[in-house]
Amino acid sequence: MRHDHIISAKQLSRADIEEVLDRAAEVAADPEAFADRHENALLGLLFFEPSTRTKMSFTAAAKRLGGDVVDMGTVESSSVKKGESLADTVRVVEGYADALVLRHPSEGSAQMASEFVDVPLINAGDGAGQHPTQTLLDLYTIRESAGFDDLTIGIMGDLKYGRTVHSLAHALTTVDADQHFISPESLQLPRSVRYDLHEEGATIREHTELEPVLPELDVLYVTRIQAERFPDESEYRAVAGEYQIDAETLEAARDDLTVMHPLPRVDEIAHDIDDTDYAHYFQQAHNGVPVRMALLDLVLEGQR
Ligand code: NCD
Repeated sequence: MRHDHIISAKQLSRADIEEVLDRAAEVAADPEAFADRHENALLGLLFFEPSTRTKMSFTAAAKRLGGDVVDMGTVESSSVKKGESLADTVRVVEGYADALVLRHPSEGSAQMASEFVDVPLINAGDGAGQHPTQTLLDLYTIRESAGFDDLTIGIMGDLKYGRTVHSLAHALTTVDADQHFISPESLQLPRSVRYDLHEEGATIREHTELEPVLPELDVLYVTRIQAERFPDESEYRAVAGEYQIDAETLEAARDDLTVMHPLPRVDEIAHDIDDTDYAHYFQQAHNGVPVRMALLDLVLEGQR
C-alpha cells in the first residue's frame, strides 16, 4: 500500500483491499508474530465524537503491535474547548505520534487535517462522509463469511447519513458486488454518492422494502438511524419499524445469509437473531482488531 493517509474507501484499489485483508488474516492466524512489530510506535487518537469500537480497537491494535496510544481525550477536556482549530490541533499532535487517527463531526475534516501533517492520518469517521477502516473490517467479515465471488448484498437503514454505508458502497463496487439499497425514500443514498457509484460502474438497485429482495441476498448489512445528524428525527421514526428485522423476518432468507451491522445497534436487529447462525455482527466488531493491526502495520511500514 502506498498511501500516506487513509481518508476514503474511494482511494483503495482491489489490490490495496486484498493486501490489508491478507495481512489481517495473517495477524488473526498468529497474533504473536506481530507482538513486537512496532515497538515504541505511538498512535495519536483524536476523537471529537463518541466512539467505543473504533477507538478501543485502534488502541488494542496499537498495543498488540508493541506500540501505544496518546489520546486527546474528550473535546470537553482538551484545548478544543478553548477554541483551538483542528488544523492547529493536528499540527501539534503530529509531534507526539507516528500516526494519527481522527474522528470528527464535519464531513471533509479528515482530508483537510491531512493537508497539515506529515505523519499518516487515518479517517475514523468524518461526519456523514467516510469511515474507511470500518469498511476494511466489513470487507474482511464478508470475505470470511460469504466471499467476494458473485456477492449480492443488501444495505438497509439510514443510507443518507450513514458514513459506514458511503464507504462500504465504494469498496463493494471495487470488488464487483451487486448492491441493493433498502431505505425509506427520505433516507436514500445522497445524490453525490449515487453519482460517484455510477461513475465507478457500480451495479446498484434501490428499494423501499426488504421483503422482495431478501431471498437473493448473501449478506444483509443493517445500519442505525444516525439520530445525531438528523434535522428532524420524527421523519424517520414514522417509518423506522419497517426497517427492523427479527428471526421471523429472516424465515424468507437464505440459510447461509450473513447479517452484519457496524454497531452500535439500537432496535434495528431484534435480540432473537443474536444466537442464530445469521448473526455476524459481534464477530465483525472483533475483526476490528486484526484489521486495524494490519492497516497500522502497512501504514507504519510505509513510513520506514
Ligand atoms: C459507526 C460510525 O461511527 O459511523 N460506528 C462504528 O464505528 N462502528 C456506525 C454508527 O455509529 O452507527
